[in-house]
Amino acid sequence: MNENLKRRDFIRTSGKLAAGTLVANSLVSSVYAQGTDEIKVALIGCGGRGTGAAFDAFASGQNIKLVAMADAFQDNLDRTYGTLKEKFGDKIDVPDSRKYVGFDGYKAAIRDADVILLATPPGFRPMHFEEAVKEGKHVFMEKPVAVDIPGIRKVLEVAQEAKRKKLNVVVGLQRRYQDNYREAIKRIHDGAIGDVVSGQVYWNSGGVWVRPRMPSQTEMEYQMRNWYYFNWLCGDHIVEQHVHNIDVANWIKQKYPVSIQGTGSRAHRTGKEYGEIYDNFAIEMTYDDGSVVYSQSRHFEGINNRIDETFQATKGRVYLSAGNQAVLWDANGNEIYRHNPRGNPNPYQQEHKELFAAIAAGEYKFEDTEYSAYSTLTGIIGRIACYTGKVIKWDEAMQSTIDIMPEVYSWDALPKILPDENGIYPVAVPGLEVSKFI
Ligand SMILES: NC(=O)c1ccc[n+]([C@@H]2O[C@H](COP(=O)([O-])OP(=O)(O)OC[C@H]3O[C@@H](n4cnc5c(N)ncnc54)[C@H](O)[C@@H]3O)[C@@H](O)[C@H]2O)c1
Repeated sequence: MNENLKRRDFIRTSGKLAAGTLVANSLVSSVYAQGTDEIKVALIGCGGRGTGAAFDAFASGQNIKLVAMADAFQDNLDRTYGTLKEKFGDKIDVPDSRKYVGFDGYKAAIRDADVILLATPPGFRPMHFEEAVKEGKHVFMEKPVAVDIPGIRKVLEVAQEAKRKKLNVVVGLQRRYQDNYREAIKRIHDGAIGDVVSGQVYWNSGGVWVRPRMPSQTEMEYQMRNWYYFNWLCGDHIVEQHVHNIDVANWIKQKYPVSIQGTGSRAHRTGKEYGEIYDNFAIEMTYDDGSVVYSQSRHFEGINNRIDETFQATKGRVYLSAGNQAVLWDANGNEIYRHNPRGNPNPYQQEHKELFAAIAAGEYKFEDTEYSAYSTLTGIIGRIACYTGKVIKWDEAMQSTIDIMPEVYSWDALPKILPDENGIYPVAVPGLEVSKFI
């Protein structure tokens, strides 16, 4: 079989083939009719990161065409379409008939393409990932991969199906694709500083945007627009942002915490425009070997910011940051490795470069889902520990059936979290209403 055919065969149908539901010959002829090695991409969630992910996909160097777009809102889709069309011209082949608006548009967009970019707020990730894998599509999906524990269980279940169908899945925990992290962590895993016994991971920053309520909006539309401040959409910032640093801890430890405890609150962001989330968390993640990683994540403006990771080990220590830094010291404080950042690839682009190269070559290489789900879960357990004030054990948390997603997705439907008559949303108080969270 010629190389092009083999590649197209893999791109379009690896899932269906592995599931044994199609006959190879009929596939080959339908693939042959296409006569091209073009990889068709659909973008679901056309906001800031979705636009960025599309740019990164085009920077992969493969023969990519964007053929479908889906977004909850017409204006967001139109804006991103305009940006991409201006930049990439004919590579954007998305007529109005393949622009899908609303809650259900993702299904049609997934059917139109070979590779799906999932970049909505994370509450929708389990549902969208499930559909993409059901349809046999390769996936790039942004972190985090869920916002509650039933969502995590769904993602883990779908990950098994993706593996069975040999579908490549890359998740946007881009530190995993960044040279300084890869080089330093390889050395740590090879024993350069001994066993890691403690660590500190940080995402202390000034916070993000607020999207104001408009008089014409239903409650559902308001929450969807101002999604950062609602857990069913965002997961709180300990999940949405800090998952990056938490994942570094789990990656270094090559395991997940057995229990988490912590504290958090709202200090600055107390207004109704900030929904239900906290603005600060501090947690301790305890692993089964007794090691403890401490984490801080906070959104306070105008004070010290810090986003990085540091770990202490039996024979040394390490410092890591997304600014391409990695330094290892031995137990006497002598530097034993300093990463050279010169020429390091952009990790956001590297994710796509590796994913699309594998797809184009007909290789099955990427199954990022499991570690991404477990690191997302670590953040979720951290949130629950702080909201409840309890020590939360990993195994017990995994049994949780508390599903924070709405029953119905439509503009008139009500999310589960609602404001009081003054527009104020209920905020977790440790010790009170613990059963709502776990
Ligand atoms: N890896 C990173 O460093 C990084 C950086 C930024 C954002 N992200 C992640 O990317 C995701 C999106 O973040 P963003 O900053 O682009 O947000 P955004 O608000 O700019 O974009 C989200 C888009 O999704 C759309 N959307 C919401 N629900 C939808 C649905 N059900 N179906 C279709 N479209 C829907 C919104 O209308 C919006 O256009 C989040 O998970 C975020 O954590 C990752």
